[in-house]
Amino acid sequence: MGISKEITGRLYDAAIKTRLNSCSPYSEFKVGAAIITGDGKIYTGCNIESSSYGLTMCAERNALSTALCAGERDFSAILVVADTEKPVSPCGACRQLIYDYSPDVTVIMSNLKKETLEMNIKDMLKYPFGPV
Ligand code: THU
Repeated sequence: MGISKEITGRLYDAAIKTRLNSCSPYSEFKVGAAIITGDGKIYTGCNIESSSYGLTMCAERNALSTALCAGERDFSAILVVADTEKPVSPCGACRQLIYDYSPDVTVIMSNLKKETLEMNIKDMLKYPFGPV
């Protein structure tokens, strides 16, 4: 928690830029995400939709997967941004995957007005399922 303004700004800029690559012809709801590692590297993702709707992948999970595929395992914050009235909140599936790989990460929700809301993933996923 307590992510600095500088880090939040870097994550926001990265997420907003990647959001422009969103492939969302069905919902027309563009989402961008950026995740930062403990040593300051940023990985990004956007939502990718499919004509077979259920295959749609969210921005947060794409950002996390890209970072995991690069070998990263230590994350301090993930930011998500969309054009919403209030800062956009990650869906349940994203919360689970974020928790699986980063159970103490700070989630920063935001919107195009640059409003932000910060919360620990633990507080967003009550009584979580975890590794057995
Ligand atoms: N979406 C995300 O990318 N992240 C979320 O946390 C919620 C939803 C995407 C999925 C779909 O492409 C569009 O937003 C509408 O649900």
